[in-house]
Amino acid sequence: MSLVFVLSLFLLLEVPKSCIAYDYFSFPQTWPKGYCNKQIDEHKTFHCPGKIPKKFIIHGLWPQPSQQAPNGSLLVEEDLKPVEKELGLDWPNLIGKNFIFWRSEWQAHGVISEAQFPKLEYFKTALHIYKQNDLLEILTKEKIVPKAKEVYSVTSVLEAVKKHTEHDPQVVCYTDSKKNVSALYEIRICLTSNATSYRNCPNPHGSCGDGNLLFPK
Ligand SMILES: *[C@@H]1O[C@H](CO)[C@@H](O)[C@H](O)[C@H]1NC(C)=O
Ligand SMILES: *[C@@H]1O[C@H](CO)[C@@H](O)[C@H](O)[C@H]1NC(C)=O
Ligand SMILES: *[C@@H]1O[C@H](CO)[C@@H](O)[C@H](O)[C@H]1NC(C)=O
Repeated sequence: MSLVFVLSLFLLLEVPKSCIAYDYFSFPQTWPKGYCNKQIDEHKTFHCPGKIPKKFIIHGLWPQPSQQAPNGSLLVEEDLKPVEKELGLDWPNLIGKNFIFWRSEWQAHGVISEAQFPKLEYFKTALHIYKQNDLLEILTKEKIVPKAKEVYSVTSVLEAVKKHTEHDPQVVCYTDSKKNVSALYEIRICLTSNATSYRNCPNPHGSCGDGNLLFPK
C-alpha cells in the first residue's frame, strides 16, 4: 500500500468519543445596534459602521465550557473561499476586516472542536445553525421588535426563543447609561456537541437580570 493510501485510511477513522474536549456548543448571535451602542457607551470614541445590519449576525460557535484553546491549525483566507460570500453577509466584522474576526474566532474557539469540525466544516456548521435560527424573525413572530424606548420583559424574550428551540437560550445585555436600562446585544442558543440538537443554555438571564430590557432600534 502506498503511504498516501495508508494515511487517508487513517484520516477516515472516526474520532473516538473520549477525545471530545467539550460538552456542548454555545452559538452567540449579535444584535448589531446593541453591540454598537454598547461600544459607544463604554468607549466614547467608538464609531459604528455607517450601515449597521438590521438582522442578528453570527458572533461565533463556541465549544463549552470555555477553556484555553489548544494550538490548532492555522486558518488562512483560502480555507474559507467556498463560504466567504455567505460569511461576509452573516458573520461580518462590525469593527474591522472580516477575515481577522473569523481567524480570531477560530483560534480562540474553533480549534477546541477541530477534531470533530475541521476548519471549513466548522464555519459551514455555524452558517447552517444560523439559517435555522433567524432570531429577528423568531422574536418578531412574538411581537418583540426593536424599539427606541419601549422595553420588554427579559422573560418574554427568553420564552419567544424557547418557542422555536424548545430549550433555554441565554440573553446578554449592557447597561444603557443614558436611559438607565438593560439593553440587549446578544442572544445565545446552545447545541449538543455534535451540533445537531438543541439543549438548554446555563444562566438564561445572563447579564440582563429579571426585569425589562431594551431591544435597541
Ligand atoms: C503552542 O504553540 C506555542 C507557540 O508556537 C508553543 O510555544 C507551545 O509549546 C505550543 N503548545 C503545544 C501544546 O503544542
Ligand atoms: C436606574 O434604575 C434603577 C432600577 O430601575 C434605579 O434604582 C436607579 O435609581 C436608576 N438610576 C438613575 C440614575 O436614574
Ligand atoms: C447528537 O447528539 C445528541 C445528544 O447527545 C443525540 O441525541 C443525537 O442522536 C446525536 N445526533 C447525531 C446525528 O449523531
